Amino acid sequence: MAGNRTFTIIKPNAVANNNIGNICAMIEKAGFRIIAMKMTYLSRSDAEKFYYVHKGRFFFRNLYLFMTSGPIVVMVLEKENAVEDFRKLIGSTNPEMAAEGTIRKLYAQSKTRNAIHASDSDENAAWEASFFFSDKEIIDTEYCLPLPED
Ligand code: TYD
Repeated sequence: MAGNRTFTIIKPNAVANNNIGNICAMIEKAGFRIIAMKMTYLSRSDAEKFYYVHKGRFFFRNLYLFMTSGPIVVMVLEKENAVEDFRKLIGSTNPEMAAEGTIRKLYAQSKTRNAIHASDSDENAAWEASFFFSDKEIIDTEYCLPLPED
């Protein structure tokens, strides 16, 4: 059965271009809940660990140089069928190939500067979320305590 969580990174170009809010609005409008969130930086060694599956690929150097070039926003998202539905919302790796209305079509500049990361499996989503967040930083946001005057 497909899981209900995925992990995402708003990449340095989208943060620098002031698109955090626009991207979060698309995420929420598509029915995802943000259940963990922070702005941070990746060190080179963190970037190499996070992207270890791509070590040795021709684009690896560009990837870690870009991912360490500025602040990022990391989030855990919740929705039924989260991984697959979120991959659809972000669009193809190469923004020239990305479908209209996808996050990458709107906010990516190139294959490397492609605005957003999304986990590609439930297992990777869990590992990637734990790379940035402790269990207690992943929060049930679907409640709001009543106030005395309610
Ligand atoms: P990949 O896992 O293939 O793509 P996706 O992010 O869509 O899951 O690649 C990881 C990242 O590596 C990708 O988001 C950007 C970078 N990359 C390049 O810079 N150049 C490339 O040719 C490819 C394939 C990826």
